[in-house]
Amino acid sequence: MTKATARAGSNIAFIKYWGTRRDRPELALPLNPSISMTLREARTTTTVAFDPDAAEDYCTLNGSAATTEELKRIQRVLGAVRRMAGIRASARVVSSNNFPTSAGIASSASGFAALALAAARAASLPCEPQDLAGLAILGSGSACRSLYGGYVLWEPPLPSREDPSVRQLASESDWPLVDLVAIVSREEKPVKSSLGHILAWTSPFLEARLASLRTAVPKVEKAVLERDFEALGEAMEADALSMHAVMMTSRPALLYWEPATVGVMKRVRVLREAGGLACYFTIDAGPNVHVITLPGLAPVVAQEIQNLEGVQEVLVCTTGEGAGLTEDHLF
Ligand code: PMV
Repeated sequence: MTKATARAGSNIAFIKYWGTRRDRPELALPLNPSISMTLREARTTTTVAFDPDAAEDYCTLNGSAATTEELKRIQRVLGAVRRMAGIRASARVVSSNNFPTSAGIASSASGFAALALAAARAASLPCEPQDLAGLAILGSGSACRSLYGGYVLWEPPLPSREDPSVRQLASESDWPLVDLVAIVSREEKPVKSSLGHILAWTSPFLEARLASLRTAVPKVEKAVLERDFEALGEAMEADALSMHAVMMTSRPALLYWEPATVGVMKRVRVLREAGGLACYFTIDAGPNVHVITLPGLAPVVAQEIQNLEGVQEVLVCTTGEGAGLTEDHLF
């Protein structure tokens, strides 16, 4: 039996990935480039063992057996690893997050980055991030960004290609930032992002968003390289609103926000405009708000957000490293 364990941090996108090519929806071929920051404190650890004596794949997530739907997604990655390695053995997978699931942090991003690395290692396949990106996106597109630390750019492949193009723009030590995650709800999201990426096509605003990203993406890339927080923040906030405009104008319409979501967004703007505190918001496919700020300002901004009505908790995440192997096996 060959066994390997990997760790990976989740990530928060400054330029969001929303919308996949319709010809191959299962492949997570993105319509637009996205740029994210890998998170240190929101981590998944996963152990994978291929066992020729096991009758079938078995997977435990945070102490419970994976549901049929979860197992199917995991098996997309395991199946690809088996094909590449020429093995037939079933796998045992045990995975656990050090952060609460459904807390507004993408556990699929850290989960599938850790799974891709652990499974590839257990099957003795090459384990550099560029070798793993194609495996990670079989579970979740944004997972390919969690293979790298710091700030990461994921671009759509050329029309004739399917392999993902992902690279690090700057490392975690180049520019430490803080993501304060304001939890306003822990409910499961009503529509999963995998469906949302297809529904995006029904929005009349999709085309306008994709056109605006032609200038927004280079702006964010430059802001990261030059550590220009104001330029990053302005573009990041605008992009989150643009993605949610697409969501809200899809058919059926996706409205992920709660009243407290808007409360946090407005407070962030007041803190910035009247209070002179450098902080900006972004929001994924859910109601929780990620407030991005500088390390020195994090305690005071976190306190302000925590005091708002409807905010249950504020999680503090810093810029983290990419996926890596460990000898601390889970079984
Ligand atoms: O990787 P997925 O399919 O869960 O999609 C992620 C979508 C967003 O979180 C909303 C945006 C992003 O780029 O992370």
